[in-house]
Amino acid sequence: MGFFTSSAITVACLAVNNVVAFPHLAMDGMTAPIAADVAYKQLLERQSATRPQGGAPLPLTPPPFDAASQLINVTGAHAFVAPGSGDARGECPGLNALANHNYLPHNGIATINEFVSATGQVFGMGADLALFLSTYGAVIDGSGTSWSISGGPHVGIGGSHGNYETDSSPLKSDLYQYGSNSKLILEQFHELYDMQPNAATANYNLDVLRTFRNQRFQESINKNPYFVYGPFTGMAVSQAAFTFIYRFMANHSAEYPEGVLNKDVLKSFMSISGPENNLVWTPGHERIPSNWYRRNTADAYTIPYFETDILYFTSSNPQLTLVGCNEGKVDTYQNIDASTLSNGAYTAAQAAANPICFATEFALAELPGLTGLSLTSGVLGSLTSVLSSVTKNLGCKAIGSVNTTALALCPGFTLYGGPTAPVAPGAIQS
Ligand code: HEM
Repeated sequence: MGFFTSSAITVACLAVNNVVAFPHLAMDGMTAPIAADVAYKQLLERQSATRPQGGAPLPLTPPPFDAASQLINVTGAHAFVAPGSGDARGECPGLNALANHNYLPHNGIATINEFVSATGQVFGMGADLALFLSTYGAVIDGSGTSWSISGGPHVGIGGSHGNYETDSSPLKSDLYQYGSNSKLILEQFHELYDMQPNAATANYNLDVLRTFRNQRFQESINKNPYFVYGPFTGMAVSQAAFTFIYRFMANHSAEYPEGVLNKDVLKSFMSISGPENNLVWTPGHERIPSNWYRRNTADAYTIPYFETDILYFTSSNPQLTLVGCNEGKVDTYQNIDASTLSNGAYTAAQAAANPICFATEFALAELPGLTGLSLTSGVLGSLTSVLSSVTKNLGCKAIGSVNTTALALCPGFTLYGGPTAPVAPGAIQS
């Protein structure tokens, strides 16, 4: 954990400075909509033709590359070992890969410290982001200090549908569309995979993932009668499921220090094998490729960095900044006003300009009701302090109390659904 703490803070500061350098990314509810800024869009288009990450603003300059520290060991104690019958593997390919290579305990149940240390060491995740994600999981979906990367309600990710795991994920099934939240749907994989037809130049960067993200969102509206895009699960977690694909799975090199994600590396991390015309998914066999180099420590993926990527996504589709759901039938999607949900604390424009603020403040205000514990109680206190430090660093406006009655119009709104459920009447499977 100490490995990343000081550098993560430095890089978090750098990312905040980048926001200053890009006033369009400033977290100010009064800022003009990003999409309306033609000059900025033109700049992004020029950049997207030349930069490995696509049009996404960060990193502003190519990060350093250090082969020795970025090469990930997949031999000896860290050789791939397939999960056995008692080992938990679930929705998250990154965590599954860490467990398969013994960077996390092979049984798939780990402590907060183990999650923070493994995601930093192997993927270059900022300590701030890792602490946020793993403390939330351990407190809301685990024992308070540890949790499972699979499992059921109050055990791990598998049973967290509605509070953590969510709909319109890249490759994994929508719970009420397929009756499971952890099946990889090959048609969804093909949607992404086929976006880069030439294997020699394929790069699943932020531009490709942004297009895919928008397609998957629309697909859930069209096919999942119980689709819910919640304040925390939709606006924050759901974007991570897409940005993490390029930001953490890309291979880094002296030539491409920002990273390039090609077809073979994508297949390996997603546990897909076989020829193009006969791809096969093997559940739980996510593998870190040989000769694979992670992000540089100086370029750790922190919370401000992630927020910049969310804004890059939402600039292409304002719908991603609004909470909403289908009302029990496909194509009945309704937005739910941020102001209603936050009892007036955030306008829709403010939530859109500061998605992590809105999502995290909403989670903070919702936690006592969600857990039945007080914000300062022992177990909840550790999460409150982690989330509060995130919102303090971003300068977020607090939400005093949440009003979740509007979510009653969403029949798919649950807090501890999964890993299986009945298929919703009218669901369309690919
Ligand atoms: C402590 C760290 C992490 C936590 C707590 C975490 C948790 C989660 C959760 C709760 C989901 C389900 C989200 C959804 O339903 O859409 C998820 C999905 C996902 N995670 Fe992670 N994750 C972590 C690290 C990582 C890393 C390092 C990577 C990449 C190497 C990664 C890649 C993904 C991807 C790609 C998905 C979407 C899977 C799909 O639908 O295809 N995660 N993760």
